[in-house]
Amino acid sequence: METNNILNTYNRFDVIFKKGKGVYLYDINDNKYFDFVSGIAVNCLGHSNPKIINTIKNQSENLMHISNLYWNDQQIKLADKLIKIGDLDKVFFCNSGTEANELALKIARKFGKEFCPDKNKIIYMKNSFHGRTLGALSVTGQEKYQAPYRPILGGTVQCEFNNIKDFYSKFDKNVCGVIIELIQGEGGIIPIDPEFLQTVKNLCDINNALLITDDVQCGIGRLGTFFAYEKFSVIPDIITVAKGLGGGFPIGGVIVGKKACETLKPGDHGSTFGGNPLACSVANTVVDCLTSENFLDEVSNKSAYFKEKINDLIKKYDAFESISGMGLLLGLKINDKISSGDFVKKAFEKHFLLVGAGNNTVRLLPPLNVTYEELDKAVMLLEETIKEF
Ligand SMILES: Cc1ncc(COP(=O)(O)O)c(C=O)c1O
Repeated sequence: METNNILNTYNRFDVIFKKGKGVYLYDINDNKYFDFVSGIAVNCLGHSNPKIINTIKNQSENLMHISNLYWNDQQIKLADKLIKIGDLDKVFFCNSGTEANELALKIARKFGKEFCPDKNKIIYMKNSFHGRTLGALSVTGQEKYQAPYRPILGGTVQCEFNNIKDFYSKFDKNVCGVIIELIQGEGGIIPIDPEFLQTVKNLCDINNALLITDDVQCGIGRLGTFFAYEKFSVIPDIITVAKGLGGGFPIGGVIVGKKACETLKPGDHGSTFGGNPLACSVANTVVDCLTSENFLDEVSNKSAYFKEKINDLIKKYDAFESISGMGLLLGLKINDKISSGDFVKKAFEKHFLLVGAGNNTVRLLPPLNVTYEELDKAVMLLEETIKEF
């Protein structure tokens, strides 16, 4: 039926899940799966988290959706939390990561126009991923995603990631924005070089351009800090978020700093669903959990523990090359003799769920409240899987 009914855009695994609990999923035949994908960095508090379930129950009994024609107390509360954590100024809520990036690009364009009509150039990075809508796609530095849809948005220029010389050669006074992931996710879990980031920030500041950091995958606690920039000590002008913010409920956001928080005026942007009371109430619960005492420190502790165990595996098995990333956004690079796709398939046969990323890397994305025992289990399953090769 799927082949007949659904547009053929996904290569799916042969399974139908019927329920989840914590780090486990169960299929329609009651087989249990160990989930280190978390809906691609979404289910940050695991499946069927009781606090999220309660929030959905309570809020949906009262109010789910009202449009953005009226005040929305859940939205205001959520914005207040994000602004205070992020040291930024104002928020717009939408439904997904790509939408958040669309708006960030629009703000950069409008911000640039206020200085001069030609200030509309946007720099993006090679191997980046910012989403599938035409604007976000136009700043996604991967040929396979862009090629079928050319011509892409004009005025977008690609730069080598972490290459200061290339950045200088691409930057000029007509740049209105630079969009980057502080850890490239789909591109292969590749962290930004702090010196490169500082250079980008300096040139943006001097030339009235906006630094946009895409926290869709690497933000909302993934790195052991609420926002990714906290790991790099450079405050961006705009942060885009989605994925983990709703813990499984769709919501995205654009958090804007002083420089550009007055750029948009009524009518300049909007969304029917964006930031509805139900989505915002769930996100409020997620943010409260993530900012509760020790939660994020524990993400860092678990990361250190997990990395150490994985490094032991790397020493033991030549096929494992290296581990990259921070917090619980980790990439295990596999040597060229085994494709990461084959590794993920083999793991799936063991009911261990993983997802690949760029340069032959397997992403490890457990829920942020994963236990140490569950991390041990993942190490054991990684070892069992590599032994098959
Ligand atoms: C860094 C980054 N930005 C944007 C997106 C797009 O998010 P969405 O799929 O919610 O539109 C993704 C999705 O994987 C992502 O990883």
